[in-house]
Amino acid sequence: MKDKSNREIKHIRFSITSKCNYNCIYCDQEGFIPKTSELTVEEITKLCKILAEILNVTRIKFTGGEPLCREEIIQIIKNVADLHLYKDISITTNGFLLFNKAEELYKAGLNRINVSLCSLIPEVYKKIYGSDSLKEVLKGLKKAKEVGFNSIKLNFVVMKGLNDNELESMLEFCSKNGYILQLIELHKVSDSVGGNGEFYEKYHLDLKPIVEDLESKSKKIKIRGSMQNRKVLTLANSAIVETIVPSHEFCMGCTKLRVGCDGNLFGCLYRSDLGKNIKDAIRNHHSLSKYEQIVKQVVDSREPYY
Ligand code: 5AD
Repeated sequence: MKDKSNREIKHIRFSITSKCNYNCIYCDQEGFIPKTSELTVEEITKLCKILAEILNVTRIKFTGGEPLCREEIIQIIKNVADLHLYKDISITTNGFLLFNKAEELYKAGLNRINVSLCSLIPEVYKKIYGSDSLKEVLKGLKKAKEVGFNSIKLNFVVMKGLNDNELESMLEFCSKNGYILQLIELHKVSDSVGGNGEFYEKYHLDLKPIVEDLESKSKKIKIRGSMQNRKVLTLANSAIVETIVPSHEFCMGCTKLRVGCDGNLFGCLYRSDLGKNIKDAIRNHHSLSKYEQIVKQVVDSREPYY
């Protein structure tokens, strides 16, 4: 299904809980939703099936809150893998619970993980995440590799004066361990991101010069056309860096549909207000054409530049 700008929906980003065990400095909590409105495991599975059928998507990412805080996470992954409709099932996690869950997640059919890792310095880590748990996360990452995950991406949101001096060490850490580094420019997700309007001004760093510098040192540069035109750089030492820098091309290349943990479908991170809730339709066992109508309304509401 294409939107009005001729962009086809190619993947789903599905929040399965708004619960989180961290308190990240840059998080706006995407509108906290009480546990009582969460879709059940059966509803999540059904919605994944419906969306794959309507949209022909084969890629899905589970997020939160923190997805590993959802007690039934293993069952959810297993159910969705057992649909045999998705060829790429991934999660974005802070990694805190990864050590204990990595093996079960892998066995359940999870294909890939992205782990938030903005610092390799314990004090800085604590400042960014509000949790003194770098050690646990590193243990979890190691475990994930051991159990078989072979595409592990690290989300590195660069913040001025906080961790912008860690790019080199992060690159080295990634190339040593075979992780892909996702270099992320701080997004202005809301006026109050971090609980303070001045937050963005204080920490935002334009990544353009850094990306250009890395490009000049790359042996290969690829543009992921169906993934917000993200650049994938292969550096001289074969380390891979993916860049996530909000811009017009970035918006233009967006092919995501988002699902909130309460069943709200929306087409843009910045416009959950344009969402349509599909939970009641699912609870009332509506027909495929009714679901299709809701999905189409949401897809039609998508516009680049919000
Ligand atoms: N800007 C950029 N990236 C963010 N993330 C969360 N909030 C922001 C923000 N304001 C990233 C984190 C996390 C992923 C889910 O989103 O890296 O891993």
